[in-house]
Amino acid sequence: MNIVEYTPDYENDVKDLLTQLQTFLSNIDPQGIIVVRENYRDGYFAHAMTAVKKHAGKVFLATEGNKAVGAAICLIPPYGEESRLTTTCPKCGFISDLVVAEGMRGKGIGSALLARAERYFAEQHCEQMQLCVSTYNTGAIAFYERQGLLKDCFYLRKPVGQSQTDLKLPEVCKSGPMA
Ligand SMILES: CC(C)(COP(=O)(O)OP(=O)(O)OC[C@H]1O[C@@H](n2cnc3c(N)ncnc32)[C@H](O)[C@@H]1OP(=O)(O)O)[C@@H](O)C(=O)NCCC(=O)NCCS
Repeated sequence: MNIVEYTPDYENDVKDLLTQLQTFLSNIDPQGIIVVRENYRDGYFAHAMTAVKKHAGKVFLATEGNKAVGAAICLIPPYGEESRLTTTCPKCGFISDLVVAEGMRGKGIGSALLARAERYFAEQHCEQMQLCVSTYNTGAIAFYERQGLLKDCFYLRKPVGQSQTDLKLPEVCKSGPMA
């Protein structure tokens, strides 16, 4: 396995990987909010590559032969006004997407991509790196914690108008703040 930077030769592989990621996330979302839209494959790829160009980004790929089997999309987005008013604004790298192809997981590819992303952020003099993960994506949370990432903030959600007894949330959401 090699870690390389994205080139257009890998466009279809990256679209496949991002679609696998979205399909995985939609399958585990207990509220059914995450979906794979008909135009997702091309639309999300275009969106991600625009963000990469705009925010000093890089796409790192794990390759086997001439096929990409994992991808990490890295950005260094600017802070918004609220953060500028309320935080020290450490220069921060953001991983918008990380995925390893089904059947290739658990072989060290995800950790190699995360390490490459961290090296890129270090080269860019970032002081922090961060990413978002859903509370119900317990496998990914275990993976990130294994790689030394610390849990930070999380969102709370409730369908408006539903009583507490109607709520059908998975245990991980019911238990409150991520321990
Ligand atoms: C999460 C993901 C990127 C991890 O990549 P990977 O190549 O499978 O992970 P690695 O093989 O590098 O695993 C590194 C360590 O994390 C642990 N780990 C990985 N996946 C895990 C899981 N689902 N549950 C528990 N531990 C896990 C491994 O056991 C390994 O531990 P070790 O260092 O003791 O051997 C990959 O499983 C994936 O694409 N998942 C589906 C998409 C997804 O959830 N992406 C993240 C969205 S935020």
